[in-house]
Amino acid sequence: MSSLTDGPLVLGIETSCDETGIGIVRGHTLLADAVASSVEEHARFGGVVPEVASRAHLEAMVPTLERACETAGIRLQDVDAIAVTSGPGLAGALLVGVAAAKALALGLGKPLYGVNHLAAHVAVDQLEHGPLPEPCLAMLVSGGHSSLLKVEDVTVGVDPLGATIDDAAGEAFDKVARLLGLPFPGGPHIDKAAVSGNSVAIDFPRGLTARRDLERHRFDFSFSGLKTSVARWVEAKQRAGETVDVADVAASFQEAVCDVLTRKALDAAVTHGIEDILIGGGVAANSRLRAMAEERAAAKGIRVRVPRPGLCTDNGAMVAALGAELVARGRDASSLDLPADSSQPITTVVA
Ligand code: KG4
Ligand code: ZN
Repeated sequence: MSSLTDGPLVLGIETSCDETGIGIVRGHTLLADAVASSVEEHARFGGVVPEVASRAHLEAMVPTLERACETAGIRLQDVDAIAVTSGPGLAGALLVGVAAAKALALGLGKPLYGVNHLAAHVAVDQLEHGPLPEPCLAMLVSGGHSSLLKVEDVTVGVDPLGATIDDAAGEAFDKVARLLGLPFPGGPHIDKAAVSGNSVAIDFPRGLTARRDLERHRFDFSFSGLKTSVARWVEAKQRAGETVDVADVAASFQEAVCDVLTRKALDAAVTHGIEDILIGGGVAANSRLRAMAEERAAAKGIRVRVPRPGLCTDNGAMVAALGAELVARGRDASSLDLPADSSQPITTVVA
């Protein structure tokens, strides 16, 4: 074991979607965060192609690992543990990371932790803002997930309060961007286009906020009606031979998404007596979401923590951060026959 005085030295591997991430942390200190993305290979398909992602992980794994070790100035045998995303995610993509992690753990004789991708999105904030407030309300919004979670101890489990019942928030950004002729992934392009648009130009629907929906779906989200509404609006304009003001549509759509996300997150925090909200996942990089969350939370005396954008999108540092916390708190490691589980439940932090 390396010196544990500053926390365990952990290597984290992330391959659940289109980013090959290798992170190295010591306790709450980030030493390296190497990421190789295959996003450009998927762009022309308008979405991530699983087979393409798996092959890209295979090709990127060793060079990314070497880059991370070099940046951190460590040798592989120095690490105290290997952590890897075991799920949820794309099955073939997860397999590449899990196989690499097993090989490292076995070859180096180090414990292996197969961790939940969503819990890792929560734990990463410790690298930037220190120990997580306990409890905290985590809102995870990305291309694959949109969840509200009550987190008492991220190494033990999280309590799911709500989730999307159809599209994920990032998926809605990507689909609407496509409708507007913006490149994939669409979130950053909508964010940029919205800056010069009028956010109240079009009154798009706020999913699951009507009184009748709140009874069953108070903390759940729905973005597919919003996406359809944007599509209808754009089609109607085009049929009438009018030009579509991309900036106004982007701003009004973004406002609808951020309004629902922040409203529900605050409602969940207040209802559960939680004073800290943590936002993670790729959509947490959205400038309007950050501003609106901070403004609305401040009005209720609630604090908001958002990691910097590079830590919000998928990366290996988040997996290493969770791994280090698991080691520090003495949690049991996974077995070496750990499977990749594409639908690993959020309640399973370590598989
Ligand atoms: O967490 P992430 O990197 O991967 C998944 O697990 O999905 O999130 C990617 C998602 C994409 O849908 C992308 O469009 C969205 O995050 N995204 C954004 C922004 N940056 C990335 N959405 C809105 N505004 C942004 N600035
Ligand atoms: Zn993610």
